[in-house]
Amino acid sequence: MFKDMIKTIVEAYGPSGRERTAAEVIKAFVAPHADKVYYDALGNLIACKKGVSGKKIMLATHMDQIGLIVTHIDDKGFLRVSNVGGVSPTVSIAREVMFENGARGVTSFETEKKKITEAGMPELFIDIGAKSREEAEAKVEVGDVAVYAPHFFEMGRFITCGALDDRLCCAIAAEAFNTMETEHDVYAVFTVQEEVGCRGAGPAAYAIEPDLAIALDVTATGDTPKCAAMSVTAGNGPTIKVMDSSVIVPVSVREFLKKCAEAENIPYQYEVLRAGGTDTSAIQRTKDGVLAGCISIGTRYIHSPVETASMDDIENAVKLLKAALRQKVLPEA
Ligand code: CO
Ligand code: ZN
Repeated sequence: MFKDMIKTIVEAYGPSGRERTAAEVIKAFVAPHADKVYYDALGNLIACKKGVSGKKIMLATHMDQIGLIVTHIDDKGFLRVSNVGGVSPTVSIAREVMFENGARGVTSFETEKKKITEAGMPELFIDIGAKSREEAEAKVEVGDVAVYAPHFFEMGRFITCGALDDRLCCAIAAEAFNTMETEHDVYAVFTVQEEVGCRGAGPAAYAIEPDLAIALDVTATGDTPKCAAMSVTAGNGPTIKVMDSSVIVPVSVREFLKKCAEAENIPYQYEVLRAGGTDTSAIQRTKDGVLAGCISIGTRYIHSPVETASMDDIENAVKLLKAALRQKVLPEA
């Protein structure tokens, strides 16, 4: 079932630069439906299905999640950390965390001088239940990366878990790839290192040279109490990106996606995101430029362990992506 696949993919371990565990989970879902599945030198996972039109469509969803990297282990066995990607120190206090080897820990902060809201990364630490540096080093070493321990659950039509950004869209891309009808070559690229500056998607697009690229990611919403104003409501449809701080989507691509949605009565919203970028920009600026657009899922509490999105939007995003892949005529510059 689609929801089971989402749960399995979002709960997998995979911070930036350490995506392989999550990649292998995704690979198992797409490999039976692909002509070829491979990794490039950066670790991007690429599933390819050949078509007959001679045109290439690239899908891009990032596998990496934010994390806490161990910078130092003290004499008492507490781990000091720095952020991998956009981690809020406040959101990272009093959390359960998990390392790649399964080691577990909890987070807290130096309480002597600071209040919880004043604590920054330097005040944060992870307790892995060790009484000395030696005991800690038996489980974890400097450079290891912790992620929020995943806990997937449902609230009515909403699902919540850490790493919905962007593993949720990896599941959406996998579902569309596995069930699509298309006459084009499709490259589903599950990218690395988006959270540290969209480092994986560009080289993948450079190698593939797509005629059209569609990235999928989460985006902010304007539907929670006293949040910053934004015209995206979770549950009102997947969004078609107009702009974020890294990209302006070409009008032809945006119109293409809009027509795909309207032709099949799929609800959609336009997305203008003030702050935050996506792989879309890295793909767009590859070689002599690539036509690239983005479908997003309005998600509450991004970069927290309780990222929350609507199954209605998720299912409609699969429909919209499949409708786009089915088109014979692709947008032009
Ligand atoms: Co993110
Ligand atoms: Zn993302």
